Amino acid sequence: MQSQMTAQEIRRKFKEFFESKKHAILPSVSIVTSDEKGVTDATLFNSAGMQPLIPYLLGKKHPSGTRVASVQKCLRTVDIDDVGDNTHATFFEMLGNWSFGDYFKKEAIEWSFEFLTSKESGLGLDPRRLYVTVFEGDDNAPRDDESFEIWKNIFAQAGVAGERIYFMSAEDNWWSAGDNGPCGPDTEMFYDLTGTLTDGMSKTDFLVENKSQQIVEIWNDVFMEYEKRDGKVVGKLSQRNVDTGAGLERLSMVMQNTRDFFEIDLFADLMKLAGKIASENKSQKIITDHVRTSIFIIGDGVVPSNTDRGYVLRRLLRRAIFHTDKKDISPEVVHDFVASVAETYIQTYPEIQNKVETIEKTINEEVEKFKKIFPQGLKILATFKKEISGKDAFHLSSVMGFPIEMTIDFARENNMSVNIGEFLEEQKNHQNLSRAGAEQKFKGGLASTDEMSVRLHTATHLLHQALHDVLGEHVEQKGSNITPERLRFDFSHTQKMTDEEKTKVEDIVNEKISAKIPVNKVVLPKAQAEKTGARHLFGEKYGDEVSIYFIGDELENAYSKEFCGGPHVQNTSELGHFKIIKEEAVSAGVRRIKAII
Ligand code: ALA
Repeated sequence: MQSQMTAQEIRRKFKEFFESKKHAILPSVSIVTSDEKGVTDATLFNSAGMQPLIPYLLGKKHPSGTRVASVQKCLRTVDIDDVGDNTHATFFEMLGNWSFGDYFKKEAIEWSFEFLTSKESGLGLDPRRLYVTVFEGDDNAPRDDESFEIWKNIFAQAGVAGERIYFMSAEDNWWSAGDNGPCGPDTEMFYDLTGTLTDGMSKTDFLVENKSQQIVEIWNDVFMEYEKRDGKVVGKLSQRNVDTGAGLERLSMVMQNTRDFFEIDLFADLMKLAGKIASENKSQKIITDHVRTSIFIIGDGVVPSNTDRGYVLRRLLRRAIFHTDKKDISPEVVHDFVASVAETYIQTYPEIQNKVETIEKTINEEVEKFKKIFPQGLKILATFKKEISGKDAFHLSSVMGFPIEMTIDFARENNMSVNIGEFLEEQKNHQNLSRAGAEQKFKGGLASTDEMSVRLHTATHLLHQALHDVLGEHVEQKGSNITPERLRFDFSHTQKMTDEEKTKVEDIVNEKISAKIPVNKVVLPKAQAEKTGARHLFGEKYGDEVSIYFIGDELENAYSKEFCGGPHVQNTSELGHFKIIKEEAVSAGVRRIKAII
């Protein structure tokens, strides 16, 4: 009987193990991707540990060397409809180790096996309960006999008998993060949760056991040798990489001897809280999952809206509320949820603890909005007869934020039907449109360097800091655009600014202008730059060296510090009088200021 191991111990053991194999341990980056053009869930959020590492898998030199490992916050909403069963969640942590042109199949597979089975340095799992798959080959790449042989030797050496290595097609054993980027065949490891199937089995039996979740995938080693563009393999990469991924929650399930994801230590308290507001077990799981995910997303700076990341968040929150018995979550319960997540992750993701107030406020506001739209949506639904068209269902979901599952539920209760095919079609068309829009939006160009624009650029930095001073630390830059006539600055904030707040911001900026403060620049290695506390965009890709513009005599106590490429004026005295000419909403939770000097 193996002993129970907490999620925290698994994280620690994983990091220690790969440190002992000479890997640099990287911290988790934001769950929000650095891909500005992100238009699908997979590109809006990091959905695998490898995503922030793509430039290095494509050949760029990583400052920490050729071997790295991490435990990364991830989000996948592709399986959102399966959440509520025993093994699906939208948020999860991925343990991963990487080789950038360093070791390849032999070491990767041997270390995976060692970490999973070693009693001293790993998880001490029973090798007789392990099953693996390898790539069977196709037009893109040959059959992976090398991995097959490595596994054969490993099992032989461990004295494990029986058929347990299966060749599978690209559908199962080829991995890429989408249609573009590094990819390759993989070998996947599965664990038998029942502990009764230790003598091996035929491929057919294995597939049956896997389907019924008796045997679950716990780790994936990808051998990235190829590059894909628009869904097609276009050639080999300049280096051979290893990309691995193991889900922490899945491993916890195995290590804590449970067949139900939601019984692991990370979920225990949340499930109890969900039990207070929902009577059905499936609903409790959906609430637990969606609220936990929302807390992490808000913790990384996203606010609910009707587009992109904000919409994913809104949908998760609204689904969670919808699954409560009373279609409501009181501020007290929200408080308990946030406090519980903050405490569970205090050592790993302290950003949650640091933002509990913003997170609670954001969720409470969304609950209030939901309570308003819910009866309105029901009223609209009541006007339909027999069939609800896909167009109407889409309109309800995209314009009113009335989730499709509520429309379906309503229809079921009233003996009506929803044209789901048409709804999906509408949704797809809409996604294509927003993709085109996003591309347009980010085409842009370098900022104009004429004199007025440079002055407005420096004023933007002052404004950014002044907004923090007046409105609070939740303010995050969401966009900036400068023409010679005016500056435009978008930022996260859930309310209209009062006249008093606007005046305060103007006064601060004008005070800094009158104070004739020098504007300086330093160039620092990225890690050091991050330590200075200089503001930078969530998810933005920065080079190994970044320049920081700071407004003050010294970096340490400068009034404003930002990662920025410039250009700026040399002294704030060059700016002139600052005035806000407009403050308005761009989308829910995002405000826009236009100002002149
Ligand atoms: N990137 C691989 C996965 O997510 C390891 O499965």
